[in-house]
Amino acid sequence: MVSLTNSFDDIIHGRRTIRKYDNRKRIPREELAKILTEATSAPSSLNMQPWRFIVVESTKTKEKIKPLLTANHIQCDTSAALICLFGDLQPHSNLTKIMQGSVDYGTMTPDIRDQQIEKLTNYYQRVSQEQIKNTILLDGGLVSMNLMLVARKYGYDTCPIGGFEKEQLAAALGLDSGRYLPLLIISIGKAAEKGYQSYRLPVADITEWL
Ligand SMILES: Cc1cc2nc3c(=O)[nH]c(=O)nc-3n(C[C@H](O)[C@H](O)[C@H](O)COP(=O)(O)O)c2cc1C
Repeated sequence: MVSLTNSFDDIIHGRRTIRKYDNRKRIPREELAKILTEATSAPSSLNMQPWRFIVVESTKTKEKIKPLLTANHIQCDTSAALICLFGDLQPHSNLTKIMQGSVDYGTMTPDIRDQQIEKLTNYYQRVSQEQIKNTILLDGGLVSMNLMLVARKYGYDTCPIGGFEKEQLAAALGLDSGRYLPLLIISIGKAAEKGYQSYRLPVADITEWL
């Protein structure tokens, strides 16, 4: 286990996209599971948590998906893992479990649980696939950012990778591509380069105050 970095400023301002990692450094599964657990404290629409992760650690699976990674082979070759993030196009698939979880936490009564399950089941029957897609894209963005920041707390760096063959990733990983929408691949590992500070537009250029 690596030592934790807890300064908020270091975590948020020190994050850089890192594309090259020390490939001798593995990340223990328990540690990756902790990182995912902390990342999933992210908010999501109706708390449906539609994110699904496939953690690719083995050379065999990395080699299988490498041809889909267009210009991102260095991350594939050197990272400790490629975390493939998918959005579930049936975001309410865990509705009952999530509502029951709130009852177990003591923050919801069984009556409200049953009402909520009925209300949300009806809602998901009416809502369009386009709306669901937009929502899981947003939810996926929030959990991704959390993941990249939490990774830094554990001493690792990341690269968000959008450059991959979106139509082929789910099937290559054995997922139902009609149900799981690929959102992002996040490479993670011990940095073998410093990265660089990328330019940010001034707030005045991108903000209106009304
Ligand atoms: C949605 C998304 C997709 C990205 N895709 C790639 C990618 O395919 N390959 C890559 O090397 N970097 C990728 N990046 C990283 C960006 O180039 C990087 O975040 C940006 O230049 C800002 O740099 P910084 O992350 O170091 O602040 C992606 C970033 C985001 C948010």
